[in-house]
Amino acid sequence: MTDALALDSEAQDLLFREARTANAFTDEPVTDEQLEAIYELVKFGPTSMNIQPLRVVLVRSDEARERLLPLMSEGNRAKTATAPVVAILAADVDFHDELPRTFPHFEGARDLFAGNEDARRDTALLNSGLQIGYAIVGIRAAGLAAGPMTGFDADAVSKEFFPDGRHQALVVVNIGRPAENAWFDRLPRLPYDEVVAAV
Ligand SMILES: Cc1cc2nc3c(=O)[nH]c(=O)nc-3n(C[C@H](O)[C@H](O)[C@H](O)COP(=O)(O)O)c2cc1C
Repeated sequence: MTDALALDSEAQDLLFREARTANAFTDEPVTDEQLEAIYELVKFGPTSMNIQPLRVVLVRSDEARERLLPLMSEGNRAKTATAPVVAILAADVDFHDELPRTFPHFEGARDLFAGNEDARRDTALLNSGLQIGYAIVGIRAAGLAAGPMTGFDADAVSKEFFPDGRHQALVVVNIGRPAENAWFDRLPRLPYDEVVAAV
């Protein structure tokens, strides 16, 4: 089955089969170079009208971590306290301001969204979700483990880390090298036949 894919088997394992959601991390640092290389790879993942609404705050300092920890669900606090770096992934709901630069061949693109806040929000959330998926795979491509979490007070995190009011925090991701016992049991995935219908 894996022969049907262009990606070699080792890379398939690294990105998916052997990649796991980490719940504990070693203290080996994650460098800025690694994080920038991940972004430079996953920025090519597609978004509708090339809107690229994902914005990221990297929590590295003790001071920033102290602000984040009380806003995490209790079960997520210990791992967020010890991960070498924690990324807060958010949607920029005012992404349309960048459209003259990122979608320049369509002059009316910015105005299309400027007058429709609901559509703008829906579009930002869908496409940020896509970009979050690309980011998780990109973290794995760097040989690191990701621990994505939605168990946190999203409105409070948005206010605390994006005080301009135009961002919605969506997922907090712990990033690092997995410690021993970093994993919960692997849970069953739905089979192809149940998920895919050919008509
Ligand atoms: C968007 C998202 C949110 C998640 N939120 C949490 C969370 O708040 N706390 C937690 O312990 N795990 C969280 N998880 C982890 C998932 O339960 C885990 O990725 C899934 O069961 C697959 O685990 P595996 O990669 O080890 O197979 C989240 C995962 C994703 C992708």
